[in-house]
Amino acid sequence: MRLIVAISGASGAVYGIRALQALRELGIETHLVLTSAALETIRLETDYRKTGIERLATQTHRIDDITSKLASGSFHTEGMLVIPCSMKTLAGIATGYSDNLLLRAADVTLKERRRLVLVVRETPLSLIHLENMVKVTAAGAIVLPAMPAFYTRPKTVDEIVDQIVGRSLDLLGMANHISAGWKGPRKERINDRS
Ligand SMILES: Cc1cc2nc3c(=O)[nH]c(=O)nc-3n(C[C@H](O)[C@H](O)[C@H](O)COP(=O)(O)O)c2cc1C
Repeated sequence: MRLIVAISGASGAVYGIRALQALRELGIETHLVLTSAALETIRLETDYRKTGIERLATQTHRIDDITSKLASGSFHTEGMLVIPCSMKTLAGIATGYSDNLLLRAADVTLKERRRLVLVVRETPLSLIHLENMVKVTAAGAIVLPAMPAFYTRPKTVDEIVDQIVGRSLDLLGMANHISAGWKGPRKERINDRS
């Protein structure tokens, strides 16, 4: 199993880092692309540095290396995860404006009819953002907003992060137990109501 993982410069770099850790634990081959804005959010939001994140991936590809194997459909992958996905990167994917390796790899993933999951993060959303989400969905991508649920009663930020990461890997067909899904109401809550 082989997956492209891209981290762009939206808030929530921790989602991308956790996804790389989880995929490593699952034994999935990962090909990482980091944008220059992602390096800023990683620095501002986490204690990680570029090399520490690169070590989590099987291979890292330079964002400006358009000669990378990720730029060709002949390099087979199970799909691509952009986590988190900025509105700028979303716009590039929606319009097919592939001027960096992340955008080209996403374009290739769509043209090859492979799974593309975009963990978008912005709030509030403008009409431009919403229209771009419609465009990529029509082209076959899955938009998974970094929008955690609270029915699992998360106790830590890690649990909240894991929920989004677990769902995104589910959508890529990567079986995982990172986060427990909804299993119906708790027994004690049913009792409380009786
Ligand atoms: C701390 C920080 C947080 C940001 N958060 C977001 C965000 O949540 N969503 C977003 O679309 N852009 C966000 N941005 C802006 C993007 O980083 C910026 O648009 C950048 O050009 C995106 O480039 P990229 O898509 O190539 O990574 C943030 C920037 C910084 C510095």
